[in-house]
Amino acid sequence: MCLPRKCLALVSLLFLGFVVMAQTTLAPTPPMGWNSWNHFYQHVTDADVRAAADAMVANGMRDAGYVYVNIDDGWQGTRRADGTLQSNERFPDMKALADYVHARGLKLGIYSSPGPKTCAKFEGSYGHEAQDAQTYAAWGIDYLKYDLCSFGEILSKAGKGDQAAPAAFALQQEAYRKMHDALVATSRPIVFSLCQYGMSNVWEWGPGLGGNLWRTTGDISDKYDRMALIGFSQAGLSRFAGPGHWNDPDMLEVGNGGMTLDEYRTHMSLWAILAAPLLAGNDLSHMKPEHLAILENKDVIAIDQDSLGRQGDRISALGPYEIWTKPMAHNRIAIALFNRGELAHTLRVDLRQLGVPPAAHIRNVWAGADLPYSKTIDPMIPKHGVVLLLVSR
Ligand code: GLA
Repeated sequence: MCLPRKCLALVSLLFLGFVVMAQTTLAPTPPMGWNSWNHFYQHVTDADVRAAADAMVANGMRDAGYVYVNIDDGWQGTRRADGTLQSNERFPDMKALADYVHARGLKLGIYSSPGPKTCAKFEGSYGHEAQDAQTYAAWGIDYLKYDLCSFGEILSKAGKGDQAAPAAFALQQEAYRKMHDALVATSRPIVFSLCQYGMSNVWEWGPGLGGNLWRTTGDISDKYDRMALIGFSQAGLSRFAGPGHWNDPDMLEVGNGGMTLDEYRTHMSLWAILAAPLLAGNDLSHMKPEHLAILENKDVIAIDQDSLGRQGDRISALGPYEIWTKPMAHNRIAIALFNRGELAHTLRVDLRQLGVPPAAHIRNVWAGADLPYSKTIDPMIPKHGVVLLLVSR
């Protein structure tokens, strides 16, 4: 027998243990897959999603680890008289779509908002959380992105204009907790992705609400400046990520056409160093081989998906030249040398200062070749480019 207060503490501890265990099982490494938003926006259709799933099988992405096929905003229709949410005319049969995706060894994700409306003004889950979670589970959904959107207006009112004010903050946490509990109550394992753009240091409380990942920034776009602003601003957040709970600097833009190959390599390298979710955001049915090669590079995926689950961080920044490292399992280490400048630059680096032991094996990831060991290296890094090294002892 335990005293009531001690019992309560024990039960809370057990519950927290259960949440952490469930989280870790759902997303032991950062989720990988595809999301419709960055290319199709709210116009996405059932046919687009099936085509993405087919492409992932045919082009090797599924076998490289990309598993989730995530429908973002734009699938929602109206509610029936009993409140059940239906998909719109572009998605005639969600259950059939989930079956189609599952039959290909992939998983299906969906999108909603804690507010009455989503960001693209479709139906949100406000007041229907438990019902919507049951609907997703019945369809066979495996992943939910839950995007603040119109709930921001409710927060602004509660916080008298300040969405981070204590009253608004409590309301926001309650909204995310409510959907987490509703998902758990379905007994279907559903990855829970929080999207509220990094407000109120979400990385400090997102895991406690059962979030498997949480957006840390506003929206990415297919432009180097925006991608770099978001990606490099992640410095200092590494201690908040780990197996089951990941920082999410938004989806990938690789292949959408707005960046050079060097810039896309920087994008992919930085996301891998950050142990970020790798959700491709392009049209997989019509992609250039050089973009597929970036998404499918085995070494960069291994860095992102490393079983230690540690997020990397910035080690030094000298003007536009930044060095980031990521500790990996089996004493390996990933080192990224970034050039954010407007001209190619030769960077002299003392590998010993980065913890590289003598005679280490060094793989130059994007060159696809090994680099002979030497204490110092001075690679040329293209404008907006990267040299990514995978070092093992
Ligand atoms: C927000 C999110 C995006 C996307 C859109 C959909 O802007 O940050 O990732 O989901 O909403 O409307």
